[in-house]
Amino acid sequence: MTPADRHRQRGRSTGRTLLRRSATAWFTVATAGQAAFVWMIVAHYGRKTLTGNLLAWNEKPLIKGYVAGDGAGNAMFAVHVLLATFVTAGGLLQLVPPIRKRAPALHRWVGRTFFVVAIVMALSGLWLTWVRKTYLSLISALAVSIDGLLILAFVAVAWRAALRRDFLAHRQWAIRAFMVVNGVWFLRVGLMAWVLITGGGIGMNDSLSGPADIVLQFGAYLIPVAVLEAYFLAQASDARSTKRMTAALVLIMTAITLLGAIGAVAFMWWPYM
Ligand code: HEM
Repeated sequence: MTPADRHRQRGRSTGRTLLRRSATAWFTVATAGQAAFVWMIVAHYGRKTLTGNLLAWNEKPLIKGYVAGDGAGNAMFAVHVLLATFVTAGGLLQLVPPIRKRAPALHRWVGRTFFVVAIVMALSGLWLTWVRKTYLSLISALAVSIDGLLILAFVAVAWRAALRRDFLAHRQWAIRAFMVVNGVWFLRVGLMAWVLITGGGIGMNDSLSGPADIVLQFGAYLIPVAVLEAYFLAQASDARSTKRMTAALVLIMTAITLLGAIGAVAFMWWPYM
């Protein structure tokens, strides 16, 4: 091996390490932020549902939570918000490498549960949106519905790849499914990051139909999926610069995620606990 080859190899391995570390940094921040989301759901909806005080769901700002006389709508809302804890926690658990490697049976069972719950979440979300008519504007209903359809599509492809034992495709589609399942969490984080960065939320309005609202609602799942694709490409690439630039992009996303997650806890969840 010539000195030039050795130099190139060292560069590639530094790029690989940087890329891996950027992903670990993002995952650590996302885990903390999603744990806070789970905590909010359990502390607010879980506690109030268990004590039978369904009217208290509405103590937190909602479009349509508990509605007297709407048994089916209330039941669907309860199923949707309570299962949100399982889909969020389950998704995180699936991405922890030691669990995948040391407890494959657990990985398979949590995986199946995650897929089934994600399907129920998407279908119940679509029902709440279009049958119960829970939306602030048509464009916001459309944005979250496309997320619901992507969840159904990505889960189906990831599951089929696992059944075919095509583990490379399974891994990639399962992580894409993780991103779109977390679209609703990214939306809360994105909205709060934008409010904090712009000092009040330029381009936003009360019906989530301002220009910034629209970008954030579609971006809540399209941006994470796009960054993930860049990450997959950088992983497969031999170019050190591609790995470094992608690592920098992931680190910028990590900073935005951190800011938005802190904002969501401070302004969206903590005041209503
Ligand atoms: C799969 C991941 C999802 C999770 C973890 C999730 C989580 C939640 C949570 C926690 C709430 C309660 C509102 C809050 O306190 O913030 C909620 C409400 C709701 N979700 Fe989802 N959701 C998911 C997917 C979807 C999808 C795909 C749709 C639409 C297609 C949807 C439509 C709704 C609607 C309409 C409400 C009621 C909102 C309101 O009344 O203010 N969700 N969801």
